[in-house]
Amino acid sequence: MYAFAPQTDMLKPELYQALMESVQAITHDEPDGVANMANVAALVWQFVPQLNWAGFYRVIGGELVLGPFIGKPACIRIAFGQGVCGVAAATAETQLVHDVHAFPGHIACDAASRSELVVPVLRNGRVIAVIDLDSPEPARFDENDAAGIEMLARAIASVI
Ligand code: SME
Repeated sequence: MYAFAPQTDMLKPELYQALMESVQAITHDEPDGVANMANVAALVWQFVPQLNWAGFYRVIGGELVLGPFIGKPACIRIAFGQGVCGVAAATAETQLVHDVHAFPGHIACDAASRSELVVPVLRNGRVIAVIDLDSPEPARFDENDAAGIEMLARAIASVI
């Protein structure tokens, strides 16, 4: 059994540092990318409050394909440039969306989602996946969340 658990009173930078340490502990000895993405999604879900979806889309054959996640069943394939995930993949830049209803082309997988953070995972300069976090709270994510998930994306690029 793994007993990783965040303290509830942590500031965001501390929380993401603790998340990183748990992720590195659980992935460092495991070569299987699917297993690692599944555990990373579970740890993000456990550490980051106020989420209704957390997981991966992988770049396969020039489009995004759904990977391991926690949340409601989601859209399986997303073209580069489409929705928040597709824009993150096409630009290789983090997308911090305070109001998903104001994002042109946002793809609603769960009607409860109000804000979203999507961070590309790069390996050798190429986007290989994106990490997608959704929240039912408007403007749930800020620069601290973006920096924390970007740190995570760099740490897992070689194990997913
Ligand atoms: N909202 C995303 C689609 C993925 S789901 O939120 C899980 C988007 O617009 O890309």
